[in-house]
Amino acid sequence: MTDYTQGAHDTRDAEDIDEYEHVHLNVFGTPLRVLDHGEGCRVWDVDGNEYLDFLAGIAVNSIGYAHPRWVAAVTEQAGKIAHSSNYFATEPQIHLAEKLLKYAQAPEGSKVYFCNSGAEANEAALKLAKLHGRTLCGALPSIGGRPARILALTNGFHGRTLGALSATWKPAIRKPFEPLVPGIEFVDANDIEALRSAFAENNQGKHGKGPVAAVILELIQGEAGVLPLQADYVRDVRRMCTENGALMIIDEVQTGIGRTGSWFAFQREDLTHGIIPDAVSFAKGVAGGFPMGGLIVFGAKNAALFTPGSHGSTFAGNPLGAAAALATVGVIEDEHLIENAEQRGEQLRTEISNCGNPVFSTVRGRGLLNAVTLNRPCAHAIVEWALTQGLIVNAVRPDAVRLAPPLIVSAEEISEAVSILAKVPADLPLDPAN
Ligand SMILES: Cc1ncc(COP(=O)(O)O)c(C=O)c1O
Repeated sequence: MTDYTQGAHDTRDAEDIDEYEHVHLNVFGTPLRVLDHGEGCRVWDVDGNEYLDFLAGIAVNSIGYAHPRWVAAVTEQAGKIAHSSNYFATEPQIHLAEKLLKYAQAPEGSKVYFCNSGAEANEAALKLAKLHGRTLCGALPSIGGRPARILALTNGFHGRTLGALSATWKPAIRKPFEPLVPGIEFVDANDIEALRSAFAENNQGKHGKGPVAAVILELIQGEAGVLPLQADYVRDVRRMCTENGALMIIDEVQTGIGRTGSWFAFQREDLTHGIIPDAVSFAKGVAGGFPMGGLIVFGAKNAALFTPGSHGSTFAGNPLGAAAALATVGVIEDEHLIENAEQRGEQLRTEISNCGNPVFSTVRGRGLLNAVTLNRPCAHAIVEWALTQGLIVNAVRPDAVRLAPPLIVSAEEISEAVSILAKVPADLPLDPAN
């Protein structure tokens, strides 16, 4: 079998990786390369090798690298005020909140909370659910020892902080940290009967459980392998939440801010049949590479659940991040990147389907969040091989390769990536777990 990783690391890259491993906790494994700079959809490593980036910092660098408008906005804001604390407001955060509420078509009275990451956005969402749960249980946090519950889905991923991890399905990453936050239960994704039963468990007299305060879900389960939920199921979740007084919280950390061909995935008819959520968490792509996230709470009643002191973070709404985000969403609007995500996504799926590589089975996703499923579980070897060909892709699971390029990607760059992927050898080594 050919060793496709031969000669992968040049001198400086290899030395840096040794040094990296010497001083960093080993939570991410060995870095693939040491990157130096980027421009548009391309990045260069410290040895000067060029890569077409179809991962975009895991669906983060939506307007590519070093977009002149983003660089100018961040530079200008850094020269004015980089941080203020929440004892003060700044104009970028106000303007950004207004824009996000507009993009989400949120009703009057809806509000935004800003934070610094996807996990934190979901922490805010879970606290919203807890506050709502108190209203369901009356003034006390629980009635007769029956606190309100939060339902999460199998295969869901919501982050690594302890609260978000409690709603994250994958046992391998959750189990070592148990016991986690109590009151969060999993139901099978796409199984409406399972959801109905979970809701019904609070109607069983004194042995029943507490009411369901919220259901939290991703419309496309990104980390599980870019798995879209069934639209009928999503519509039924909405109906059941409304009937039972529970909040429907949608985690759009990976799908939001244009990535799936609409500002938010919940706005896609083909994913939801047109529902309105009670809260939407977002992060990743919102600030084009600056760490930022947040929660949109829909409607005045839900928004009023948070009161002064009930949540917060030193960096929440940081003006540098807000300026980066304003530049990012401005570019998305002015360069018509939502339409581009839709069109280039279509092109990507069509070209992959027609490329004739026998290693590939199917391709699924929406907009520019896609995964190619494999006939043999060799995703990690494909990632290594693709790097040697100048392409960055991601092994989201052993039998699926995730493709999430910047939203600025051109038709030519899509074809270039597919022409590389078409040559993925059929004899790559299988992933170690297999
Ligand atoms: C759907 C979803 N939610 C939450 C997170 C956590 O975001 P972060 O890594 O910024 O904490 C992720 C990260 O991949 C995600 O995909």
